[in-house]
Amino acid sequence: MKDIVEIARKRYTTKHYNPDKKLTPEQMGAIKELLRLAPSSVNSQPWHFIIAATPKSKARIAKAMEGLFAFNKTRVLDAAAVVIFCARTQMDDSYLQHLTDKEREDGRFSGNEEIEEAGYKGRKFFVDIHRKTLKDLPEWAARQTYLNIGAFLLGAAAMGLDATPIEGFDPAILEQEFGFAKQHLAGICLAAVGHRAAHDGNATRPKSRLDPAELFTEI
Ligand SMILES: Cc1cc2nc3c(=O)[nH]c(=O)nc-3n(C[C@H](O)[C@H](O)[C@H](O)COP(=O)(O)O)c2cc1C
Repeated sequence: MKDIVEIARKRYTTKHYNPDKKLTPEQMGAIKELLRLAPSSVNSQPWHFIIAATPKSKARIAKAMEGLFAFNKTRVLDAAAVVIFCARTQMDDSYLQHLTDKEREDGRFSGNEEIEEAGYKGRKFFVDIHRKTLKDLPEWAARQTYLNIGAFLLGAAAMGLDATPIEGFDPAILEQEFGFAKQHLAGICLAAVGHRAAHDGNATRPKSRLDPAELFTEI
């Protein structure tokens, strides 16, 4: 097994991609599984992913990289694929039922209706904290979705792929292009994935992180 810390040490934010190197169908399949398998609070899976892997579809995303965000444009156009991480802005009871139905289908309850009912109620309890008490459901969903991005970045590196998390885009233009709001989604972050260009200077730049003494308090 590859040393996970070594993978975390070696992964880095790719600034320049080799536009000629695509993902194999196996790599694309593995990427989708990584996105699908990420954990989320009460298994709410409050996300959706737009995957662009053609010049035309990547150009749609790159429209959101004009002006102040132009520095990210070639990352999107040259990467083998770009993922738009969308977070749900709404979770109604029918969605909660849908999650329970899928868990039943996946064999989580072994036919035990009490366990199923308890699972549904437990999830609803946590979701209601955000729907009704804190009224921060979109933010909560976005936090879950950022966890997915973290898992994705490490997973892509473990697969030997290069990646770039991208918050530098114009959200209004992305919204105009994809119409997320009417689907009760918000496009919150992007990630480019592919193969670094030979001249990508960031590949050889040393990593910089705050020292352990500053970061950890052991109690
Ligand atoms: C949420 C998030 C958004 C980011 N947005 C951008 C971006 O728009 N463009 C970019 O080149 N790098 C972006 N980065 C990369 C960070 O600058 C980078 O992760 C950080 O400097 C640490 O370096 P490393 O990833 O090479 O270890 C982003 C990173 C994260 C986690």
